Parts: sequence; structure tokens; C-alpha cells
Amino acid sequence: MSDTVMVTGTGRSYALGYNIALRYLEAGDTVIATIRKPSPDIDALKEKYGDKLIVVTMDLTDTASVNAAAAEVSGKVDHIDILINNAVGVAPDVDKGFFDADLDNIPPVLDLISVGALRVVRAFYPLLSACPENSLVINISSEAGSIEKCYRTTGMDYGMGKAALNMATMYMFNTFKDERKVNIFAVHPGWIRTNGKEDNPAPLSSYEAAGILKDLFAKRKNDFTGHRFITNEGEDYPF
Ligand SMILES: NC(=O)c1ccc[n+]([C@@H]2O[C@H](COP(=O)([O-])OP(=O)(O)OC[C@H]3O[C@@H](n4cnc5c(N)ncnc54)[C@H](OP(=O)(O)O)[C@@H]3O)[C@@H](O)[C@H]2O)c1
Repeated sequence: MSDTVMVTGTGRSYALGYNIALRYLEAGDTVIATIRKPSPDIDALKEKYGDKLIVVTMDLTDTASVNAAAAEVSGKVDHIDILINNAVGVAPDVDKGFFDADLDNIPPVLDLISVGALRVVRAFYPLLSACPENSLVINISSEAGSIEKCYRTTGMDYGMGKAALNMATMYMFNTFKDERKVNIFAVHPGWIRTNGKEDNPAPLSSYEAAGILKDLFAKRKNDFTGHRFITNEGEDYPF
């Protein structure tokens, strides 16, 4: 049976969000792909997949924009089976450490990564809970968001953002779990060449990573009891 799947941050063909959308389209599913600004890459995908691909513009840092996107999507589909919060951004000085980073760059990144996911799930909750079976929300997190495993001294904005996203995941899980209509996980997606560069040492292309994740999401869709922060290999990861 074909699913309706929504993915945020899909505008770049070399990156993960686009490739997750592509994997579901290739499987015959209907995809709602969100972008922040016009994307020639998504335009080309739309040419190929037509009505199977619904493209929506949405800025995750703007509640009104997210709510407007949800209203637009509600006019086109009657439920969402899987929602993947993938979009991300980092501070311009992400490579700097405690003494050098501009601390005022951190709050906007926290807002985008963690509050952005809350905005999206709240706005799209009616579509998620209208799913004939239970639906699944995946927050694409990172091992960099693990407080227990943290070894870095740079990228505080990103690490703090993903740690906050992990906490947001638990709050939403606790809120939804008794009804068992909406399931939710935070997932470290693996080490991926998401910048599309040949010299990137990461082992997985975005397309390969997206295939692994798609299989994982199918396996864990109905798992309401396991640990909530897992890797792309399905292993529990410490918060
Ligand atoms: N690469 C790795 O090894 C690795 C490891 C762990 C976790 N991850 C995670 O994997 C995910 C995918 O990473 P990626 O680099 O491939 O990213 P991506 O899929 O390209 O997603 C980034 C997208 O987010 C969009 N975006 C940024 N700010 C936004 C906003 N305010 N509103 C709406 N959309 C916004 C960007 O839009 P524009 O195109 O308009 O800028 C961009 O297309 C991320 O969550 C990342 O943290 C990656």
C-alpha cells in the first residue's frame, strides 16, 4: 500500500532531504516536499513525478508560515503516514569553540532545529492523527546531539540544537503515547556526504543513506516501546 510521506528541507539534490523524498517517490508513495525558497532541483523532480509530488514552501522559524503550509497541505491530502523533520541550518561560525564563537548565533539555530520540529508536528498533527493506522514522526537528529557521548568543543549551536530536538522528541512522545495514533523517534542518520563533495570522507552518499533510513522507518513505525533515540542501523543511542 502506498504511503503519504512529508519531508522538510528538500531543496538540494545532493543532500539528505531531497534523497529521502526521491526514495519514497521511486517506491510509488505520495511525497509532500517542503522547501524554504525556490529550488530548481525540486522543480525537476516535480516534472518527473507530477501529482505524486506536492511541493510546499515553508519557513520552519516562522509559525505563521508553518501553519499556512499545513492549511495548504490539508486541502490536498487527508492524512500523513510519515513525517520526516530533516531541515537544518548551522551558525556561520560553527567551526569555532567556546571562547571564539559568537554566542548570539546560537538561539536562531536552536529555534530552527528544535522549535521548528515542534511547530511542524503541532501544525500537521491533525493530518498525522487522521492516518488510518498510526503515523510516524522522525526527527533527523545526530550523534552530535547526545549529551552523554559529547566529545566536541566546536559546533555548540548544532550540538545544542540536536540535544534540544532530542528532548522535544521525548516531550512529544510522552504527549502522544497513550493514544498510539502518532509514533515518534529521533534518528542519527549516519555519516553522510550531504555536501555532495567527492573529497568528503563520509561513507554514505545521501541516496544510500536515504535508502537505509526508509527501510528503518518501515521497521520501527509501530514500535511504541523501544528507546526513542536510535541510529540508522536501528541501534539505541544514548541521549
Ligand atoms: N551529513 C551527516 O553526516 C549528518 C550526520 C548527522 C545528522 N545529519 C542530519 O541530516 C539532516 C540532513 O542534512 P543535510 O545537510 O543533507 O541537510 P538538507 O537535507 O539539505 O536539509 C537542509 C535543508 O534545510 C533547509 N532549511 C534551512 N533553514 C530552513 C528554514 N528556516 N526553513 C525551512 N527549511 C530550512 C535548507 O533550505 P535551503 O536549501 O533553502 O537553504 C536545506 O535545503 C540534517 O538534519 C542533519 O543535521 C547529517
